[in-house]
Order: sequence, then C-alpha cells, then structure tokens
Amino acid sequence: MLNEKHILIGITGGIAAYKTAELTRELVKKGASVKVIMTKNATEFITPLTLQTLSRHPVYMDMYSLSGDFSISHISLAQEADLVVIAPATANVIGKIAVGIADDLLTTSVMATRAPVLICPSMNTQMYENPIVQGNLEKLAAQGYLIVDPSHGELACGVEGPGRLPDVSEIVDVVETILTPKDLTGEHVLVTAGPTQEAFDPVRFITNHSSGKMGYAVAVMARRRGADVTLISGPTTLAAPRGVRCVSVKSAREMRDAVMEHLEKATVVIKAAAVADYRPASRSDSKIKKSEGTLNMSLERNPDIIAEIGKNKGQRVLIGFAMETDNLFENAAEKLTRKNMDLIIANDLNQEGAGFQTDTNVITMLDPNGGKETLPLMDKMDVADRILDRVKKIIEKRKR
Ligand code: PMT
Repeated sequence: MLNEKHILIGITGGIAAYKTAELTRELVKKGASVKVIMTKNATEFITPLTLQTLSRHPVYMDMYSLSGDFSISHISLAQEADLVVIAPATANVIGKIAVGIADDLLTTSVMATRAPVLICPSMNTQMYENPIVQGNLEKLAAQGYLIVDPSHGELACGVEGPGRLPDVSEIVDVVETILTPKDLTGEHVLVTAGPTQEAFDPVRFITNHSSGKMGYAVAVMARRRGADVTLISGPTTLAAPRGVRCVSVKSAREMRDAVMEHLEKATVVIKAAAVADYRPASRSDSKIKKSEGTLNMSLERNPDIIAEIGKNKGQRVLIGFAMETDNLFENAAEKLTRKNMDLIIANDLNQEGAGFQTDTNVITMLDPNGGKETLPLMDKMDVADRILDRVKKIIEKRKR
C-alpha cells in the first residue's frame, strides 16, 4: 500500500529509538522506500548498521561527510520525501524545529521539506508535560505539523504516564492514513463486522467463526480514504480502530437496533458481519444443567438486517457479503437481488486463504447488472480497498 512512497525517517536520541528499527522494517515491508537520518545522540541508542540493514539504504548522519555521493544532501533527502517521520522525537528536536533552528542534517532537512512532517514525541513524562514542550507542540500543530500523541504506560525511566512511543502498528496506520488520497471525504460509511452471539443461558451461546478482520479492514480503509466511519461490531478480540466511531453489540437483535440508530446519516452501508440467522427461542435465567439423553432446543428467526435496509435504502449504497459452502455464485446473486443490494461480495469457505479468521480473502464481486469481478488471494486490507473502489464508482455514477 505504500508502493513508490518515499519516507524519510528521523531518529533522535531517546530510548524508544529501538522501536524505530521495527517501524522501518514495517514500512519497507509495505513497499515504501525508506531513508533514515540519525542524530548524533540517536547513535548512542541504536547503531546505524541496524537501520542501514533494515532500510536497505545508507543511513545519513553528517551534513559535511565526504561520502562521495554528491546527489545526497539535506536538500535532496527533503525534496524526494513524500513524508518525513520523526520517531522518537525528543524535547530537544521538537524545540529546535519549533523555533527554526537548523543545525544538523535532520533539522535542516525538516526545514527544507515541503512534505508533511509527522512528529512522534517520546520522552519522560515530566519532560513531556513541561509547558515549554507542550507550547512547542501546539505551535508546530498550528503550523501544520502532524503530531502523534505518546501513549500512556510505564516508561523506561520507571515513571508511569504519557511519554511512550506508540506501538509501531499505530504509527504505521497514521503514516498510511496521511499517504492515502482522501477520495471518500464527505461520505458516512456504516460497517458491520464480526459474529453475533445468541445466548440460551447465562454461560452459553450460539455463534460462528467470524473474527471481525474483514469488517474492521473495511472500516480502517474507509477512514483512511477520508470517510466518517461507524463500525458496529459483534464480539471480537480486535482493538477498536483509531478514528472510527465504534459500537459493540452481542446479539443480532442488538446489531439490528444499533444499525437502525446510525442508519439515517449513512451514505454507504457495508455489512461484513456474520449475523446469526437464528436464535434460541427461549433463554434460561440460570445455567441449564446437563442430564442423561439429548437436549432439544427450538430456534427462531433473527431479523434480516440488510433486507430491512434494502427495503428502504433511498440513495444509500448498500453492500453485502455472502459466505457459502455450496453454489456460491447462484446463492450470492439471489441474495443480491432479494435484499436490494448494489454489490455483493462472495467469499467461498472452501478456498484456501478465504473467509473466516485469515488475514487474507478471495472474493468475487457481483453487481445487479450481472457483472462479476474476481480478485486473487489478497490481504483483507487490500480487499477492503478494492471494495471501496467499487463503492466510489457507484457513487460517481449516481452523481452523473
Ligand atoms: O470476520 P472474518 O473472520 O474476517 O470473516 C469475514 C466473513 C467471512 C465473516 C465475511 O467476509 C462475510 O462473508 N460476512 C458475511 C457472512 C454471512 O453472514 O453471509 P450470509 O450469506 O449469511 O449473509 C448475507 C448478508 O446478509 C451479509 O452481508 C450479512 O451481514 C447480512 N445478514 C445476514 C443475516 C441477517 N440476519 N442479517 C443480515 O444483515
């Protein structure tokens, strides 16, 4: 997703510098060309060789080194960057940038770049809370610098509070968000994800294998593309995505109520949740004791949420998923028409790497005109992006 993006990472002298090695690795893995500038103090915490190996480029430290590579200067590093990330950013470098001091390769590069600059402060809590540091951060934010708030926790110095460099995955998400074109700005995307749980006593329920990964990927990608996103999720172990309005539900009926509550302002609805079609007809208030012989349970139908939206969808774009083990395309096409969807995403439980729990999926998108687009095995984030490309096309067609 970061293919052909040039990212310049600046590392300053903080204990969290070791995490920047992982950050570099992740960004390279996602296809970015990453170059690293280290301040002299940063080299006390982590070696340039580590960053050189992970970035696959020389590490730049000195403005005046006679490296023989005349094309590399603070100006060329600054100019080729699509994004500059300073992680960890110490109080010292934050202060220097805030007042316009450019006395080393990193600060001169920041001064010379036209790319967005993302600052990831990381330091001792008292230093971070110092009004001078806070004032400098406010000043930088007001000038368009992007700041990732440090996370809370126990710091290397033993103090508990804000100051930790956030998890690498969070910084990568911020980087990807900055570098993603905002072509869904103005859209309100309502996504459902995960399984539902249908309880029949206080300790047991009927559910399915959905992990929520597919729906969460759609929510994250829609937010990266600039949409306002509401995610209604059944029980999962996934962390609530940053910048997304999250509503947790358990049963299909709770999911239905939450969807209806948030439906009005939604311009796009994407139903990736695996909603239980049936629930136990009765729920015991106490644990059902086991006894000899079989236990019979009668089930009753749950509301079909997407069908209800389909009956009164107005101008909304309505996308559903179909999970089948047999006659995938016939069944998916039937659901597409019957539930009045604009697109249905068919995923086949029998295919390796598709469907529940995996990080990948194999999908075919069917539209009401008989169009059929099959994608190869892909990461669920890429699948989500391709689904949103179709959403964008439907919206554009409606506007014409
Ligand atoms: O969560 P993961 O582990 O990443 O797995 C992803 C997934 C396989 C769950 C997902 O990609 C998927 O296929 N979700 C839909 C599964 C499903 O319930 O399919 P269905 O054919 O039963 O339902 C068709 C559509 O109607 C779905 O959009 C579903 O959300 C919706 N539905 C179904 C029943 C119901 N009572 N209400 C609904 O709104």
